[in-house]
Amino acid sequence: MLFGNQEQINFAILHKSDIISEITFDIMKKIRKAVFPVAGLGTRFLPATKVSPKEMLPVVDKPLVQYAVEDAVKAGLDTLIFITGKNKRAIEDHFNRTPELEKLLTLKGQHQLLEQISDILPSHVECIYMHQPEPKGLGDAVLCAQSAVGNDPFAVLLADDLIVNRDISSTEQLINCYSNYDSCLVMIEEVEHEKVCNYGVIEGVQVDNAVWEIKNFVEKPNPIDAPSHLVAVGRYLLTADIFSYLNQISPSVGGELQLTDAIALQVKDKPAYALLSQGRRYDCGSKLGYLQANIELALEHEQIKDALRDYLTKLTSN
Ligand code: G1P
Repeated sequence: MLFGNQEQINFAILHKSDIISEITFDIMKKIRKAVFPVAGLGTRFLPATKVSPKEMLPVVDKPLVQYAVEDAVKAGLDTLIFITGKNKRAIEDHFNRTPELEKLLTLKGQHQLLEQISDILPSHVECIYMHQPEPKGLGDAVLCAQSAVGNDPFAVLLADDLIVNRDISSTEQLINCYSNYDSCLVMIEEVEHEKVCNYGVIEGVQVDNAVWEIKNFVEKPNPIDAPSHLVAVGRYLLTADIFSYLNQISPSVGGELQLTDAIALQVKDKPAYALLSQGRRYDCGSKLGYLQANIELALEHEQIKDALRDYLTKLTSN
């Protein structure tokens, strides 16, 4: 775990020569920042997303963006950078306190609900909202975060990939891996052949049980040309030099600036790795994936799981 490593680093600083300690400290820089690109238009969910952000679509009782935020916060990240666009005010409002609602719930004695809405973010977590003038792609969104990110390594989380894992959040999994590889990381999973055209696909050499060194990275290839079935699933751990590669690339697939292309350029200069996700992922950017997430998470929800199971049994036996 990173916190353990951080303690060891401090110990090393006290006991080793200054030069060795500084190098060790630099390698193990604590990862604190997460970028959430939330400026996309959400056209696949129109008309539901005509005026409200797709990241606010609820899965059971929480919006998609909250699942992504909880994933990062669970990993110890405390600076959340949202890259927002038009009609995204609801996201900012969601993470702000709502004194009137809190007062009402207090008066009504609804303490559990009160806790749920007032504890969305721990008090030490800071939110930064930055504007992406036009939705020009994931690469452009990440570039918008540059001034807030600075020189530190940072995580990127796409809220429409909902990844569930009770043991370890996807961001924690990336951070643990980063402490071994100290390089840009892309979280991946294997998908069926015909689905690779929806994703960034890696060409890689397996270097460990769940780790591939990335040799090339292709955005949404035709399945015939895809280098593998290993695809990016909306979680990245990037080093700050990614910004210089983002500045060198041109718009490609969909006329957008693709993060995939910047990483493909970066691997020509230095190694980057792909890490197999341990979580259960729902592609909530698609209607089917979104409905699957709702059904499966509802079947785990204490308040409704039994009633929903009964309902589904009756529905499917007719
Ligand atoms: C983005 C990335 C793609 C990645 C995918 C994961 O695509 O560009 O490489 O595989 O997220 O969900 P999008 O789904 O935003 O088109």
